[in-house]
Amino acid sequence: MTNNDEKVIFSGAQPTGTLTLGNYIGAIQNWKALENDYQCLYSIVDLHSLTIRHDPKAFRESCLSLLAQFLAAGLDPERNTIFFQSHVPQHTELNWILNCVAYMGELNRMTQFKEKSERHKDNINAGLFTYPVLQAADILLYQTNLVPVGEDQKQHIELARDIAIRFNNAYGDTFQLPEIHVPKVGARIMSLQEPTKKMSKSDEDINGTIFLLDSDKVITKKVKRAVTDSENKVVYRDEQPGIKNLMTIYSKLANITIQQVEEKYTDQGYGNFKKDLAELMVESLRPFKEKYQQYMDNPDYLEEIYKKGAKRATTIAERTMKDVKEKIGLV
Ligand code: TYM
Repeated sequence: MTNNDEKVIFSGAQPTGTLTLGNYIGAIQNWKALENDYQCLYSIVDLHSLTIRHDPKAFRESCLSLLAQFLAAGLDPERNTIFFQSHVPQHTELNWILNCVAYMGELNRMTQFKEKSERHKDNINAGLFTYPVLQAADILLYQTNLVPVGEDQKQHIELARDIAIRFNNAYGDTFQLPEIHVPKVGARIMSLQEPTKKMSKSDEDINGTIFLLDSDKVITKKVKRAVTDSENKVVYRDEQPGIKNLMTIYSKLANITIQQVEEKYTDQGYGNFKKDLAELMVESLRPFKEKYQQYMDNPDYLEEIYKKGAKRATTIAERTMKDVKEKIGLV
């Protein structure tokens, strides 16, 4: 177990294109809020993204772009350890060991595996199947206490816990048991076009997804076109999933409660609400876009950050791996 009194946070995001508003509200906004009270590690999980076919040149750019997006979203590289997963080889080393602890049956039950194999029928590779084990390795390597994620990652975090418990029972106390940390509001931001479905980077209908780097015009258009209903009442209830989702987004961006949103707009109808929401979104993302460009224009700085991050992460990862190897009896 870690001797450090300070609690450890680990989370990650895949470098598959621009972050969405779902990634931001469900995860990154929360990461930022935790950086003062915990020892935080945030990883660009490039190895996970290899489970989907990719173009190497574009992929490399996406990886650096995601680093710039983390920084533009306000993550302080002094307070947080920000790094590429592939720069710390202990992730894959532990992955193999945990592969020998995880069961086929439990991996078979992972809904993301089922969804992804449905979507990529011509590329159901072994990595896609063991993806959650690499995720467990990411988390357990740092003796993580809390994993701030959106709701869609819940099953993977539970699996990481199960694997840790099984390992600890077999070989003695080795891994800290991680807890999931999801925001009370905004853990599942929905598509603007199909509000019963999660907002996703890979949605075929791009109008359902707000990307953090969308232009002001595109954002405004997507919000105006967002699917609602015929009630024309800005009320937060399950029967009105479209407006409920938009209210969630408003409350998270304006940093006010759902009740305050309701009080402000109940009698104003959808038109006004959507107009204000589009403006709020554009204004909230403006500094992000400006900072993003500055970071992208400074590759030397990005390199400095990711090298420093990998170095810090490696120190902790080596400690855990030494213990793991001893526990399982490797010479
Ligand atoms: P990824 O890259 O799909 O998403 C990054 C984070 O964004 C959250 N998220 C959402 N939250 C709310 N509403 C949405 N519509 C929405 N879409 C995405 C995700 O829950 C996630 O927190 N397997 C992970 C990456 C990963 C990881 C880890 C996470 C690898 N190793 C270890 C935590 C710990 C993934 O694909 O996230």
